[in-house]
Amino acid sequence: MALINENYQKLQAGYLFPEIGRRVREYTTANPDKKVIRMGIGDVTRPLSPAIVKAFHEGVDEMANAATFRGYGPEQGYEFLREAIAKNDYQQYGVAIKADDIFISDGSKCDTGNIQEIFGNDNVIAVGDPVYPVYVDTTVMSGKTGKLSEKGYYDGIVYMPCTEANGFVPELPSQKVDLIFLCYPNNPTGTVATKDELKKWVDYALANKCIILYDAAYQAFISDNDIPRSIYEIDGADKCAIEFRSFSKTAGFTGTRCAFTVIPDGVVAYNKAGEAFPVKPLWNRRHSTKFNGVSYPVQKAAAAIYTAEGKKETAEIIAYYMENARIMRNSLEASGYKVFGGVNAPYVWVKTKNNMSSWDFFDKVLGEANVVGTPGSGFGPSGEGYFRFSAFADRENVIEAMERIKNLE
Ligand code: MLT
Repeated sequence: MALINENYQKLQAGYLFPEIGRRVREYTTANPDKKVIRMGIGDVTRPLSPAIVKAFHEGVDEMANAATFRGYGPEQGYEFLREAIAKNDYQQYGVAIKADDIFISDGSKCDTGNIQEIFGNDNVIAVGDPVYPVYVDTTVMSGKTGKLSEKGYYDGIVYMPCTEANGFVPELPSQKVDLIFLCYPNNPTGTVATKDELKKWVDYALANKCIILYDAAYQAFISDNDIPRSIYEIDGADKCAIEFRSFSKTAGFTGTRCAFTVIPDGVVAYNKAGEAFPVKPLWNRRHSTKFNGVSYPVQKAAAAIYTAEGKKETAEIIAYYMENARIMRNSLEASGYKVFGGVNAPYVWVKTKNNMSSWDFFDKVLGEANVVGTPGSGFGPSGEGYFRFSAFADRENVIEAMERIKNLE
């Protein structure tokens, strides 16, 4: 008799974004004449830049020629890309990450979920609330939790509220935890953590033998030089943190797929007898057993991000999205909403008016303004009463969407 993984039965009915997609499809089917503007899922809209496309084409041409054709590549990623990342994303900023610490993959969503596999099920996981749902759902799938409570919390996960009062950076947990998910710039709130705030977490992790799982997928959107782009800018983080980064939002790779995970040699976890083991070989073992690498043309395209033209073009695209965020912030504030984020991150986090629930606001904005956003409660109970708008949209749509929201009753 084949048995299912019963942990899946603990999950809430559907993953947030497909659920939003379902509601939008239902609305558009019933209202085919309406022009719906999508600012829900953080999916990029600008095309790949010319330098990236050129490298992509060259990669395909190499694959079409017997003399340059490549079969399986290294599971950890091609050296040319790992070296470019180490040099440009870390060493240039005085951070001692080397190519060998970097594992190329097809997405941070997969990596932040898959990483759980190398850690025992007795670990207590801490997450922000609200939070990117993948961290929670994959914790449930891996069997580290009990059931979902009526309040929307899984037994066994430590939720750390991120609220207006704490600037959306959680307090240190009062009970012992083992693995801590942090995401800055934050999805969904669009807020950032300062060096002092991150130092608090690194010190806590070192003192308590925890590991920080640091999702830095949106680091490219930081414009304030005082805000850390990497957890490794904090002393000691190379002994207690794993960092996840992605080219999805940075360079328009949501459909192309390329990301990476960084695990320095000093990051250790323990067996039940308390002996320390480096985590990197475990991830290497997992990665090389279950993953065959990102395709060569895609890695070649990703490496082009680090050329002079690639950097310039990528910066222009990021500036485009951040100008969208500026327009959104200004317009929503002028419409009387309390607005957060959107300065060093492509997400704008809005408090609904008159304590309207997040899903009621979703229905109102979709039904009356024909604009799609993301209900804050979909990211966790503390997101109730908030709403997320993504800046990854075309400029004219952003302007039109803001105009329509201004006219909402
Ligand atoms: C989001 O909208 O939160 C993101 O697009 C989700 C993701 O990157 O997987």
